[in-house]
Parts: sequence; C-alpha cells; structure tokens
Amino acid sequence: MKRRIMSVFGTRPEAIKMAPLVRELADREGLESLCCLTGQHRQMLDSVMEVFHLRADYDLNIMQKQQTLSSITTRTLMGMEAVLEEAKPDLILVHGDTSTTFAGALAAFYHKIPVGHVEAGLRTYDKYSPYPEEMNRTLVSDMAALHFAPTAANAENLRKEAVGGEIFITGNTVIDAMKTTVRKDFRFSTELLNRLDFEGRRVIALTCHRRENYGKPMEDIFRAVRHIVESHPDVEVVYPVHLSPAVRDCAQRELGGVARIHLIEPVDVDEMHNLIARCHLVMTDSGGLQEEAPAMGKPVLVLRRETERPEAVAAGTVKLAGVEYEQIVRLAGELLEQPPVYARMARAVNPYGDGNACQRIADAIEWYFGLRKDRPAPFAP
Ligand code: UD1
Ligand code: UDP
Repeated sequence: MKRRIMSVFGTRPEAIKMAPLVRELADREGLESLCCLTGQHRQMLDSVMEVFHLRADYDLNIMQKQQTLSSITTRTLMGMEAVLEEAKPDLILVHGDTSTTFAGALAAFYHKIPVGHVEAGLRTYDKYSPYPEEMNRTLVSDMAALHFAPTAANAENLRKEAVGGEIFITGNTVIDAMKTTVRKDFRFSTELLNRLDFEGRRVIALTCHRRENYGKPMEDIFRAVRHIVESHPDVEVVYPVHLSPAVRDCAQRELGGVARIHLIEPVDVDEMHNLIARCHLVMTDSGGLQEEAPAMGKPVLVLRRETERPEAVAAGTVKLAGVEYEQIVRLAGELLEQPPVYARMARAVNPYGDGNACQRIADAIEWYFGLRKDRPAPFAP
C-alpha cells in the first residue's frame, strides 16, 4: 500500500514552494501525493496552480475580503476536519509560516496525523515581527514530526530549541521552482514588461505587503520610493500590487499616477522570476524574494526591521533597509550612485539551495516510512 502524503497550502508563496515537491512526491513509487488547498488566497493561488499545472484534490475555499487571522485559522480548522476524515493521509505536509500553515498543522495534530514542516527553523525570535508569521512557524515546530530546514543555521535553531522529531537540512524548494521558470528568451504576457527598456533604464522591482508594515511604515516606504524615482531620472519602478485591500489603498494613495512608477496587478510566478532576472535591483518586504533575487545576482533592500533569512545578508547581496524614510532613501541612493557598492552586492549567491531540495525531502519521507535505508545527505552551499 502506498503511503498517502497530503500537502496542505493556501497562499501564493506556499504554492510556489510546494509545487515542485508535490510533483516529486507523485513520481515516487511508494508514495501517493494529494493536494489540499485552504484557499486562503484565491486568484494569487490559482495563478500558481496553473503555471505549475497542479490540480487540487480538495479545496476549502476559505478566503474572505478583509479576512482576519481568526477567520483564516478557524475556517481552515473546521474545513480540514471532513477532509482528514475522508482522505486519512499518513502524513501532512505544511509549508512555512502562514495562518494556513499553523491551522493545517493543528488540524493534523487533532487527528493524530504526523506533520512534516517544509521550510522549518527560520527565526527572528521577535514574536511580533514578522507578525503573525514568527509565531505560526514556531508553533508548528512543536507539532511537527519531520522538520525540513533549508539551511544549517535553520536546523541549528531547531536543535537549540530541542524540538522533537527528525531534522533534515534540505535547501529551500524555491530554488527548485526557479529551475523551471527563468529563461533568457521568456516573453511576458504583461505587455508593460515587454515594453520596458531593461537595458537603457534601471528597473527596480518592488513588492510590499506585510501586516506589520500596514499604516505608517508602508506610507514611509512608499514616500521613500517616490523620492528615489523623482531624484533618479533613469529609474523605473515596477510594483505588482498585492490584492490585499490594506496594501492597495496605501499604494494607490502614495504612488498612484507618479511618473515612472508602474503599479500593476500581481503577475504570474514565471513573470515575476523573469522580472527579477532582468531588473537592476529589488526592494521588498517579501520572504521569498529575499531568497530568489540573490540566486540571480540582484541586490536586495529589505523593507523590514529584521529578517529570518540572514544568510544572504551575510553573503553581502541583501541589506536590511528598515522601514524608515531616510534610511531607505540613503541605501537606495548608495546603490544607484556608487558603482562599487552596487558591484559588491550584485553577486549571485546561493545560500538557500541547490535546486535539489525536493529530492532530499522526498528521500527523507521515504526513509521515515522505512521505504529507504539511508537518510538523505544534508544540503551544503
Ligand atoms: C498572507 C500570509 C503572509 C504571506 C502572504 C503572501 C498570513 C497571516 N499571512 O498574507 O504570511 O506573506 O500571504 O502573499 O497567513 N486577496 C485577494 N485575492 C488573493 C489573495 C488575497 O483578494 O488571491 C485579498 C483578500 O481581500 C484577503 C486579503 O488579500 O482578505 C489578505 O489576505 P491574507 O491571506 O489574509 O493576508 P496576506 O497579506 O495575503
Ligand atoms: N510573486 C509573484 N507575483 C507577484 C509578486 C510576487 O509570483 O506579483 C512571487 C515571488 O516571486 C515569490 C513569492 O511570490 O516567489 C513571494 O510571495 P509573497 O511576497 O506574497 O509572500 P512571502 O514570500 O513574503 O511570504
């Protein structure tokens, strides 16, 4: 009898990072791979499912406009009950740090189904930053039987916390996903991106959506971006604006109608990866972009006070810019006006993975079920 592995995810970044794993599991003879979407995101999730040709076996479709953390959590928990009773998986996989991740793991725990946590062990050790992600990720560590830590430092965090279960160092699956999306001859379906002069202009790819940045921090970030564009005539900003109403209102208010700032709809993941590959630099508060851009040699200014991804900061490709106007303007100015500063940061580094994370995770799952003799060798950069 095949072991039944159910991947539970609900937001765009989880889907991007779980997609290659869902496929890898399906290719393993002793395993059956099922996909349960919570639908915490709708359009942004469906777009990833299409790009990677994935099909959901279950879809809880929980998204509501202006949803609260409690509504995401309770609707997921309630919805998972019937799914777990019907499918009876042998293992549940969750990814990362969203409310889907936490509620998915909790639902599995309530049904005494073991949990595998993909992208485990990242920490800021600040409960409120990122909020609520730091607590989501930490709480899942207590529930998980298998911890798939992308880096050695992530695994070390888990060991220090003495979590139960097995820890594997696997690399991040996002690097696996990028193997299939980035192409030199890629043609965008977003016409603006085909028209943009990536050679003659310096294009900044911007994203910003985190809950702890809502309100004043986000306003200050956007005012800084506006100043940067207005003081550098060859700079263009492309900002695919997240569908969250809190983000969209603020972006429209602060950046709407400003020359050379392009507010566009969220783009498909292959478009985003190819945009990063062609841009001059990235400004973001996203987790995933901090991993993707360094792999493509693009400097990143992180629009947050802290990061749970210190590896690329140590490698010199990523700088923590914070959320204050002056500091963001100063750091972007250095990158745009001082070629040696730019050159030092624009080096391709891959501390997060080698593109084989999914293989290691699938091997580890086979080992756990006694289908393979040896544990996978750890990822080392
Ligand atoms: C969530 C995650 C965050 C992750 C982010 C990725 C939590 C608490 N937060 O934050 O960790 O970084 O996803 O993008 O789990 N919306 C749509 N369509 C979509 C997606 C969102 O309309 O496809 C709108 C809805 O009005 C929704 C709102 O965006 O209520 C916010 O979505 P939500 O998942 O609550 O928060 P995110 O900021 O997306
Ligand atoms: N992304 C995308 N389209 C966009 C913006 C981002 O496909 O318009 C991708 C991006 O390349 C990365 C992921 O979405 O892989 C990051 O998701 P997000 O910033 O929403 O969440 P986070 O990583 O911060 O949790």
